[in-house]
Amino acid sequence: MAESYCLHTKRINDFIDETFEGIRAPFTAGLELTAKCNLDCVHCYAKPGRGHADMSTDEFKAIVNILVERGLLDAYFTGGEIFTRPDFKELFLYTKRKGVLLSLLSNITLLTEEHIKLFKDYPVEIISTTMYGYTEAAYERVTGVKGSYKQFMHALDLLRANGINFELKYVAMEQNYDDIYAMREFGNQLGVPMVIILDVHPMSDGTTTPMSFRLTPEKAFEFDIRDEGRRSFWKDVARDLLTGEIKTIPRRTAERFKDGYLYPCSIANQHVFITSDYKMQGCVRASYKQFDLRKGTFDEGWAYLQREFVDKKSSAHYKCNKCPNIRFCEHCVANFMLAYGDEEHPDPFFCTVAELRKKFVDEEIARLLRKY
Ligand SMILES: C[S@@+](CC[C@H](N)C(=O)[O-])C[C@H]1O[C@@H](n2cnc3c(N)ncnc32)[C@H](O)[C@@H]1O
Ligand code: SF4
Ligand code: SF4
Repeated sequence: MAESYCLHTKRINDFIDETFEGIRAPFTAGLELTAKCNLDCVHCYAKPGRGHADMSTDEFKAIVNILVERGLLDAYFTGGEIFTRPDFKELFLYTKRKGVLLSLLSNITLLTEEHIKLFKDYPVEIISTTMYGYTEAAYERVTGVKGSYKQFMHALDLLRANGINFELKYVAMEQNYDDIYAMREFGNQLGVPMVIILDVHPMSDGTTTPMSFRLTPEKAFEFDIRDEGRRSFWKDVARDLLTGEIKTIPRRTAERFKDGYLYPCSIANQHVFITSDYKMQGCVRASYKQFDLRKGTFDEGWAYLQREFVDKKSSAHYKCNKCPNIRFCEHCVANFMLAYGDEEHPDPFFCTVAELRKKFVDEEIARLLRKY
């Protein structure tokens, strides 16, 4: 249910799901070029990695070679901020020339004319950039850096003027909540996709401070219903549940839970994440189980991730696999582990939002039944 970090990634994941069902291979990958950044966002999960030595250019190329051999089709570069890496262009061209579909996650404040020229010659799937507030004050309350709003707006103009494909992301938090509807309107005016992130999660070392910036579940739900796009999404869910087009429990989740597995998602199955200090994770959030690529081979790491994630079974106490609200929930086992040190500990924020959404959908179903 969670909105993906990047719309392109969601589309390709759906395609891979359908085309390669049952095949375990790293078809998609997140490559964290660095955890370092020119901004200092209050919520940033990547901060604990800033002191690490980044993977070298050669290490990067070696892992891309292996991933491509093992089936990689689509990757995204992320950070930290990718444009702080002096060898960014070299890493970019290396990956593109391997034939990998490539998206870039960036705050774009360091974007230059030179990058634009590069992306015109070698188009990216999408630049997925985050706009931390509609007003300068809200934006910089999140990023903590004076002048960053102007840099961002200038870069946005550069992308638009040059026809580079991009989307906007917005992480809704107490610091920028007043801007939420203006942000949506801004995205509509620009005619670009906008991903709204409501589930702020802990930092990679388990620090939970970012969770304290979340909207209350009630505010998060209110946005769900007041926003036209999201409201019609939940109305479609009601209609599809009524017609039997979809089931209360999503198909893949139901299959995984029926077989007793803990993780219902594609973590470490058709996706892998490589951290800036050269470790393999099942996904961007699952930083509590890493395999060090400087100490072992990719295949050893891939087998380790299978044991720790794909094959991991749940206990009899696990509540989520019996939950009637799972279709309405941003359920994420990695989030549970980071936040509570327990992979089976449901996050009350998700539970409350799911309950409110379920109520809305039930009422919508009742309304449809009265109508027909
Ligand atoms: C780590 S950033 C890297 C790319 C780039 N620096 C940016 O900010 O867009 C990737 C995305 O994760 C989001 N993010 C960072 N910390 C987060 C957290 N604790 N919870 C949810 N999203 C988070 C960022 O806001 C951004 O949209
Ligand atoms: S711009 Fe991105 S990487 Fe940098 S501090 Fe903000 S969220 Fe973190
Ligand atoms: S987190 Fe809560 S609402 Fe979501 S599946 Fe688990 S128990 Fe259900």
